[in-house]
Amino acid sequence: MVPLDYDKLPEHIAIIMDGNGRWAKQRGKKRIFGHQQGVKAVQKIVEEAARLKVPYLTLFAFSTENWNRPKEEIGTLMKLLVRSLREELEKMLKNNIRLTTIGATDRLPTQVQKELELVVEKTKNNSNMVLTLALSYGGREEIQRATREIAVLVKNNIISPEKIDESIINRHLYAQNLPDVDLLIRTSGEQRISNFMLWHLAYAELYFTSTCWPDFDEKELHAALLNYQNRERRFGKTSEQVNP
Ligand code: IPE
Ligand code: IPE
Ligand code: MG
Repeated sequence: MVPLDYDKLPEHIAIIMDGNGRWAKQRGKKRIFGHQQGVKAVQKIVEEAARLKVPYLTLFAFSTENWNRPKEEIGTLMKLLVRSLREELEKMLKNNIRLTTIGATDRLPTQVQKELELVVEKTKNNSNMVLTLALSYGGREEIQRATREIAVLVKNNIISPEKIDESIINRHLYAQNLPDVDLLIRTSGEQRISNFMLWHLAYAELYFTSTCWPDFDEKELHAALLNYQNRERRFGKTSEQVNP
């Protein structure tokens, strides 16, 4: 296998971690079992990305649409989240990882919010990698929210409409100034965006794998990164322009 080029790693990897339910079903188990195994995959991938010194890793953990799932499944997901945040804090400190969130986190149960606040606060000075959890996150909601905030600034004469540019919009998204996504990975064979990071995905390289999330491991991540490194990112230019 061709080795990874460590100088050509993406600055920002985002992952739609999909297929926990189907993974469990294929094994004759309940969906919850898939989510539990999914947490283990998260731990592996976070550690590997930090080891590779990927500056930004964003994981889609719960969407605005996921609130429409059965109450019991939502409850279990929230419990799993609290437990893993507690367990992972030490490792985040050891690996110098800073935790942030994007999404309407005020909709999450109070206990989850408290646990998140604690980990965000304790890891705020870490600098090896920014790990962002998208929780109760929807791309359209994010844009709607930013639009409202900017409209208030215009209404109060703080900025004029002509001053609204991409950097102002970016600053009003959930995570201020999160860089564009370079590589988007979605597991489980589904090939859609599902309302994830609509703004930041504008020029992302998309990578789909049929592997369900609980089976996604370091080897799979390396395969995705190798695939990414063989793409030519033209950003609207010609091949000759990018490769003079
Ligand atoms: C992803 O796995 C985890 C969440 C959306 C929380 P799913 O739960 O969507 O699993 P499938 O897609 O039903 O197999
Ligand atoms: C997207 O997965 C959300 C997360 C991975 C958290 P879903 O399984 O909810 O997406 P759809 O509904 O199948 O597109
Ligand atoms: Mg799914």
